[in-house]
Amino acid sequence: MTTTRFPKRLIDRFGRTVDYLRISITDRCDFRCVYCMAEEMTFLPRDEILSLEEIYLLASIFVELGVTKIRITGGEPLVRKGALELLQKIGALAGLRELVMTTNGSQLLATAPILKVANVKRINISLDTLDSQKFKSITRTGNLQQVLDGIDAARHTGFERIKLNAVILKNRNHDEVIDLVQFAIDKQIDISFIEEMPLGVVGKHDRAEAYYSSDVIRADLAKRFTLIPSPQKTGGPSDYYHIPNTQTQVGFISPHSHNFCSTCNRVRLTVEGRLLLCLGNEHSIDLKTMIRLPNATSDTIKQAIIDAMAIKPEKHEFNIKEQPVILRYMNMTGG
Ligand code: GTP
Ligand code: 5AD
Ligand code: SF4
Repeated sequence: MTTTRFPKRLIDRFGRTVDYLRISITDRCDFRCVYCMAEEMTFLPRDEILSLEEIYLLASIFVELGVTKIRITGGEPLVRKGALELLQKIGALAGLRELVMTTNGSQLLATAPILKVANVKRINISLDTLDSQKFKSITRTGNLQQVLDGIDAARHTGFERIKLNAVILKNRNHDEVIDLVQFAIDKQIDISFIEEMPLGVVGKHDRAEAYYSSDVIRADLAKRFTLIPSPQKTGGPSDYYHIPNTQTQVGFISPHSHNFCSTCNRVRLTVEGRLLLCLGNEHSIDLKTMIRLPNATSDTIKQAIIDAMAIKPEKHEFNIKEQPVILRYMNMTGG
């Protein structure tokens, strides 16, 4: 069956073009960050998550519908067996402008060169602290040195850009923002500071108490650095600033203090094959069931994706002062 009757552009009912797909390829992770997971997590059984072949098929359909940027996330994407082969296949899709990845960095020492060969252009690496004790207390199971080695391996591999992601929590790591930026400058990479979002019930950690806004971080940084607003846009929600005489851009992802939904250009494929239309809402369609139907064709899937654009919400409604309305954990959607 021919597929030429489908438009090569996904547009939602607010006129936003969706050309960015984020795919969580596993809910598993070797860390248990306090803002992302509960200490005891139950992960999904294999038959409830998309197979690598199904992920590839869906990625190729999205590219045919005009998606030009795919971000592979998790959980930790590199703990899934076969992740590198999948990346290689997605990276070779004609029409894809940019394959990028978000990782916790724990496996990068061994995998960075393979990712480069797979056509991964940019890598975002989570790093919330430079203190090994604090690193252990935030990630519960992580090892700082392993991630620092991973960051160096990625730098030496020569990706177009590397960005650190730091979720800043009051009284945990808010006193490290200057050191983290200095680290990024020394390593000639970028860094984004992220306001924590209330996804999933994560246990003792109190999100309202830990809230530390981007404006306060910017004021803290202004004591040491000059931040010049930068026009740079990566297709993500960061507002970027440049630090003169350095290679470093500093980004702020501020879902609470500066809503960026009006320019939203992305949808997410969750690990269980739900097409999630907004990180902060539950509007979704079940692509896994659809592609497993015996009479599924690429046309029926395309039509379902096009139709789903009509239910993409206008914006997220996060409220850190209340119990999370969204019980889904970040690791299922990859942020
Ligand atoms: P670029 O695409 O390169 O700009 O990367 P990014 O910063 O968007 O991606 P990354 O995976 O590194 O995510 C950083 C943070 O941004 C994570 O905490 C995500 O949850 C958050 N984020 C990304 N997209 C959205 C979004 O559409 N809505 C909200 N609320 N947060 C988002
Ligand atoms: N709020 C904000 N950011 C989060 N991340 C994980 N959980 C949360 C949360 N609840 C971040 C990770 C990673 C990125 C994909 O999302 O630190 O850098
Ligand atoms: Fe793993 Fe990333 Fe979640 Fe931390 S934030 S537990 S590294 S998926």
